[in-house]
Amino acid sequence: MFNRFQLAKKYLQYFISASNGKGHGIHSPFVFDFVKHVLNDKASYHCYQTIEQKRKVLLQDESIIDVEDFGAGSSIFKTDKRVVKDIAASSLKPKKYGQLLYRMVQYYKPESIVELGTSFGITSAYLASGNEHSVLNTCEGSSSIASIAKQNFNELRLKNVQIIEGNFANTLRPLLSKLKTVDFAFIDGNHRQEPTINYFQQLLEHSAKSAILVFDDIHWSNEMEAAWKLIKQHPQVTLTIDLFFIGIVLINPDFKNKQQFTIRY
Ligand SMILES: C[S@@+](CC[C@H](N)C(=O)[O-])C[C@H]1O[C@@H](n2cnc3c(N)ncnc32)[C@H](O)[C@@H]1O
Repeated sequence: MFNRFQLAKKYLQYFISASNGKGHGIHSPFVFDFVKHVLNDKASYHCYQTIEQKRKVLLQDESIIDVEDFGAGSSIFKTDKRVVKDIAASSLKPKKYGQLLYRMVQYYKPESIVELGTSFGITSAYLASGNEHSVLNTCEGSSSIASIAKQNFNELRLKNVQIIEGNFANTLRPLLSKLKTVDFAFIDGNHRQEPTINYFQQLLEHSAKSAILVFDDIHWSNEMEAAWKLIKQHPQVTLTIDLFFIGIVLINPDFKNKQQFTIRY
C-alpha cells in the first residue's frame, strides 16, 4: 500500500495528465456518451439521500463486532474485534463513487450484477437501486459484517439483492456457474495482484457479450497497479477508463481497436 505522500504524488500526476472529459481527446463515442450522460450527470436522485443516511448511522455506530480478516489469502487470517463506525470510516467507498455506480447501472441497465466486497452494503445499495430489474449478487466473507448489510438491505426495501457469505476463493466460482453470464461487476475486496487477476479471469469467462467490470483502488499499491496494467493489456479488454480511484473495463468484441482513457473525476 502506498503512503499518503506517494498516493498524493500519483494523484497529482493523474490530475495533470487526465482528460477533463469536455470532449477534447475523447475519440470514442462510448466514452463521449459515458462522460456526458453518466459521469457528468449532476442530478440528485432520490436514493442518494436514503443510502447516505444509512452511511451516517454506520459512522456513528459504536457496537463492537468480531470480524474475520481475509488479508492473508484463501484462509481466514485472524478474527479481530472492531468498532462498526471505524470500519465504516475506513472501508466504504465515498458517495461520489457509489453514486457513479448507481448512474452506470441506471444508464446501461445490466441484468446480472456481481459485487465482490459487500461490507455494510453501501455500494451494494447504490448498485441495486440503479435498476429494479437488475439482480445483484454481492459477496462478503465476514459473517458479522454481512448480517449488518442484510439488515440495511431490508431497511432500504431492496428486493433485488442476494448476499453470498464466504471467502471469494470458495464462493465466486459456484456463483458464476449458477449465473452463467455477468453484465456488470464491481470488484472491491482483497486488493492484491494475484487474487484480483484471478477474479478478473473468472469474471471474463462468464462475461456477457458486452460487459462492464469496475475495479476499485487501481492505484492503491504496486500490486494493484500491476494488476490494472495486466487487465488493460488483456486481448479481450476493448476499452478502459482510469478515474484514479476506480478503473472501468469494457468488454465488447464489436469495438475493434483497444483504447485506454484517463479522465478527471
Ligand atoms: C473495501 S470493503 C467493501 C466496501 C463496499 N464495497 C462499499 O464501499 O460499500 C471490502 C470487503 O471485502 C471483504 N473481503 C476481502 N477479502 C475477501 C475475501 N477473500 N473473501 C470474502 N470477502 C472478502 C472484507 O471483509 C470487506 O468487508
